[in-house]
Amino acid sequence: MSEFRVKSITKLHAEFRVPGDKSMSHRAAMLAGLSNGTCRITNFLPSEDCLNTLKAMQALGARVEVLEELEGYGPISMKIEGRSMKLDAPTAPIDCGNSGTGMRLLAGLLAPQPFTTELFGDASLSSRPMGRITKPLEQMGAQIETLGEKPGCAPLRIHGKSLTPITYDMPVASAQVKSAILLAGLFTPGKTTVIQPAETRDHTERMLESFGVRTVREGNAISIDGGQTPESCDFIVPGDISSAAFWLVAAAAIPGSKLMIKDVGLNPTRTAILAVLVRMGARILDVEHQTEGEPIGNLELHGADLHGTTLLPEEIPNLIDEIPVIAVAAALAQGTTTIRNARELRVKETDRIATVVENLRRMGAEVTEFEDGLEIQGGKPLTGAELDSFGDHRIAMAFAIAGLFASGETVIRNTDCVNTSYPGFARHLDAILHERTSPADFELKTLTHA
Ligand code: S3P
Repeated sequence: MSEFRVKSITKLHAEFRVPGDKSMSHRAAMLAGLSNGTCRITNFLPSEDCLNTLKAMQALGARVEVLEELEGYGPISMKIEGRSMKLDAPTAPIDCGNSGTGMRLLAGLLAPQPFTTELFGDASLSSRPMGRITKPLEQMGAQIETLGEKPGCAPLRIHGKSLTPITYDMPVASAQVKSAILLAGLFTPGKTTVIQPAETRDHTERMLESFGVRTVREGNAISIDGGQTPESCDFIVPGDISSAAFWLVAAAAIPGSKLMIKDVGLNPTRTAILAVLVRMGARILDVEHQTEGEPIGNLELHGADLHGTTLLPEEIPNLIDEIPVIAVAAALAQGTTTIRNARELRVKETDRIATVVENLRRMGAEVTEFEDGLEIQGGKPLTGAELDSFGDHRIAMAFAIAGLFASGETVIRNTDCVNTSYPGFARHLDAILHERTSPADFELKTLTHA
């Protein structure tokens, strides 16, 4: 089992790219697999989560031709031949690994099929709530058994049925739930509508649009007419801003540092992390060079002496995955940072309120835990410590960043989990630790097949 050993750094000057966006890679594999022809997907994220979704689509009949691979990880560029909405029954249960997005979106896609499928995942995924998708899907007429030891949890046995459209008022602001319903709605005659209590990431709607499928947005309600077939298209996945966030925080907390992250996704439903870092004192320049579909651009960040801030309730769904590393930024900032209205963190890959609080305290930070968040009294020097990732990729990476600011050595154990979302993180960490600056120092090896 691998670990990170991290020491403090004094400067960060670098320019590089982060791997492809996780949310978009899942969706690209699914929509390409449903489409009516051949799609070329570029900069796909070859992380365990997304590779499981790609394998799921292959098990459902989509054909994949790999064009380029990230050595040691998997395909980053490929052609996917879609099934024109007619999927094959899989011959074995489908493994979703650690991925809530994979399982929940696939459940939406599979509920209306004329066959039965089983979805299973690892221990973490098997303890996460699935009622949030089985409930609305059952309202549409789906039949889903939750077979987990914990009530309402995976494995899921999905007995495909013809569904009827609903209007669903989502009780939690979840893009995964919204997307599961929209994907089920794509196969359901009539108009399916989801009303979200707050804005959530809109990659599903944007990607449906790229594949020629119309959705209609009225306020916080999103509707889809069933029976549309995604038209094959080519899709370039932008860099993942949630992966960039680790380095943005590291650079933000070093006055005088300068960081350039190129070709990163700048979808406004994902960029609240930038607003927060600016409020904390960092200077950020974002230059979009693609505005159609999914916005892509370069981010240039200049570090500063940070100060605390309060996250706004409406920002929480936008930056939910960045909260562990924002908590680290808060520990490095002067003053108080308050993160509330974030109960959702308790049902992520780990209970991220508990795991962040535990690791921050081990490093000497002053933290108060609430049922729905945490408050950090920043500015106390951090001390190196032995920490566990608890098997959670974002905890492993967030505390590698904390280690860059702690006295002595910080050891993070159980770090294989970073492959869930960020293949190559260890190489990027190594380059930062050794104060390397050029894009070549961060490049990961690729193999071209075609
Ligand atoms: C995701 C949505 C978020 C996020 C997850 C990816 C997505 O979850 O935490 O990492 O791709 O739709 P919720 O929508 O459940 O909040």
